[in-house]
Amino acid sequence: MNKIAVLTSGGDAPGMNAAVRAVVRYGISRGLKVFGIERGYEGLLEGKLSEYDARRVSDTVHRGGTILKTARSARFATAEGVKDAYEVLTAFGIEGLVVIGGDGSFRGMQDLQHYFVSRGETFACAGIPGTIDNDLGYTDFSLGFDTAVNTVLSALSNIRDTMTSHDRVCIVEVMGRKCGDIALYSALGGGAETILVPEVPLDIEAVVTRIRRNKIKGKNSDIIVLAEGVTDAETLKTLLKDRLGNEQSLRTIKLGYIQRGGAPSSFDRLFASRCAVRAVDILLNNGVGSVIGIKNNEIINLPIDEGLAIKKSFNKELYDIASAISG
Ligand code: F6P
Repeated sequence: MNKIAVLTSGGDAPGMNAAVRAVVRYGISRGLKVFGIERGYEGLLEGKLSEYDARRVSDTVHRGGTILKTARSARFATAEGVKDAYEVLTAFGIEGLVVIGGDGSFRGMQDLQHYFVSRGETFACAGIPGTIDNDLGYTDFSLGFDTAVNTVLSALSNIRDTMTSHDRVCIVEVMGRKCGDIALYSALGGGAETILVPEVPLDIEAVVTRIRRNKIKGKNSDIIVLAEGVTDAETLKTLLKDRLGNEQSLRTIKLGYIQRGGAPSSFDRLFASRCAVRAVDILLNNGVGSVIGIKNNEIINLPIDEGLAIKKSFNKELYDIASAISG
């Protein structure tokens, strides 16, 4: 193997740069030419590939976002798009691809690999889980999740100060798509009074009861951490207002994209670097389609089909702890 390429795809996540940097530098150290592809699969279709040397990834390990830029490509999601991507890769002589992204990005990688196989050819590829959502079942964590949770924790501290001062209840909406992990981990770490996640059916009466019970105990200010997969903060506010009337002052905040930016945590930087080394090693061994992850602090890899077939499980233990100790 001589030439490999790396791309970032889907929503950006802190730690993607640390992964790109390590793929480039470790790849070069193993005698490979490493190409960066700009703007994910969309850039691949446009032939936006260029060779990266070690200098080109200097000063990036601590930066959020992705220096390669990212995109969600509708064109690549078609059979024609996959064929075009194959042609670009072969024209550049790329023999292996590292994809840093989430579920959708891995499915794209799988389609590409199937296309090579359908032509009687092989193609080495490896996926590094990069999404703040932590919604991939085969891995304990995905890149960016730890940083996003720390960002939410810092926001919760600020929100708590002002809500306590005004005796207000605040609904804090966090990202995660259909997965409640950002909400769960940040609510537990931030001492939120209520956690609402898509994995647990919404019981609005229980939320009202908790607010009232806390008031009786002398606590006039609660934090409700709401995962976007349940509903949005304004809708929840209306549901609560219908029941509480003027009993309690309610506020909402949607944390939004601040969760996706920012310097990666130490965990995400180390995790990114470990995954990148595994990815390059997989390509060098002509690994035909693997996804990489972490289980019990060990870096693991599985065939794409196998990895993607594993359903994300909800961490009931953490949910129960949070419920038991919330004030
Ligand atoms: O997948 C990451 C994520 O930030 C989700 O948590 C969120 O629902 C979505 O991306 C937002 O996507 P967009 O960047 O298209 O607004």
